Amino acid sequence: MNLFDLDTPALVVDLDRLEVNLEAMAAHARAAGVRLRPHTKTHKTPEIARLQLEAGAAGITVAKLGEAEVMAAAGVTDILVAYPLLGAAKLERLARLRESARVVVSLDSVEVARGLGELGVATREPVEVYVEVDTGLHRLGRPTGEATAELVERVAAVPGIRVLGLMTHAGHAYGVGPDELGALVEDEVAGLRATRELCAQRGVELSEISVGSTPTAHAELGAAGVTEARPGTYVFNDTTMIELGAATEATCAAFVLATVVSRPSEDRFVIDAGTKCLSSDHDDRPGWLRVAGRDDLAFEFLNEEHGVGRLDPERGRTLAIGDKVLVIPAHVCPVVNLFDSMTLVREGRVEGEWAIAARGRVA
Ligand SMILES: Cc1ncc(COP(=O)(O)O)c(C=O)c1O
Repeated sequence: MNLFDLDTPALVVDLDRLEVNLEAMAAHARAAGVRLRPHTKTHKTPEIARLQLEAGAAGITVAKLGEAEVMAAAGVTDILVAYPLLGAAKLERLARLRESARVVVSLDSVEVARGLGELGVATREPVEVYVEVDTGLHRLGRPTGEATAELVERVAAVPGIRVLGLMTHAGHAYGVGPDELGALVEDEVAGLRATRELCAQRGVELSEISVGSTPTAHAELGAAGVTEARPGTYVFNDTTMIELGAATEATCAAFVLATVVSRPSEDRFVIDAGTKCLSSDHDDRPGWLRVAGRDDLAFEFLNEEHGVGRLDPERGRTLAIGDKVLVIPAHVCPVVNLFDSMTLVREGRVEGEWAIAARGRVA
């Protein structure tokens, strides 16, 4: 079947491009001698995790315990849950998960360490943790330096805990221009190295520095001291990555196929994909959504079931009711979370479908 014969809206993945993206990052990590632990929050699909592992990844990262459970059930045996796990219900699930996989957990407090430590003591198998560090995103973690070293020392003293290293996510890189990424990463990694040194002075030797985001991946993989990288978005890319210079339209591998359902005026069009398919997660920069191959089309706004845009009549291209378009998402991760499955295409032909088995696993 031809891709454009699919019913819409549909999430479509170009397998050739996915494979190129997977191999490019894997090759880069291999050349740098850095372990790759891709964040699977982007695809939430065991088949893609399997491809990442086959390409050389040492393990995977997830954001949620539910995502870890899906991946472990599919046979993944080395998982970082990059999220503080709190409460008896989660600790019970973690205990079960640890029966089939090695699980590392990140945290940024002694409170979380104490809960995990009880599990480590009870099972006589310490819980391995990364201490999360704030290198500029101001989400989780304390800043680099003594503030983190002091926390690491206290976490390491909790019975049942083994601190492996420091972890950060340079999400603040999303807010800078491509020219500033190099300096941002230098600052990030230098701060982590210095913090590791301070931890050693306090008697806690750390073997790991785990970093990871797609826009920073190239610079991070080349930075001294980094042992592990966790890029996620690189598998599919999106218009944010294009804007940041980390992707081009040709390396975008996931699209929402949509149908033009209305042409209310000469210059306006409406597609059958709104926020239910494309999510509300975007800013208002020009080009926040793109139609592949059509730079004469620009989106104005999304309602739940309507995507409304303008066509530049000066460009002389047509767009009729019933035409189908491939929309490149602004932020692909939440878009994937909105679909039950992805349709796989190669050179415009439908090759199959993968269930997005870990979608909606919010707990
Ligand atoms: C902790 C953590 N690590 C890695 C990533 C991957 O970053 P990116 O989506 O830029 O590839 C994320 C993304 O949100 C994250 O939160």
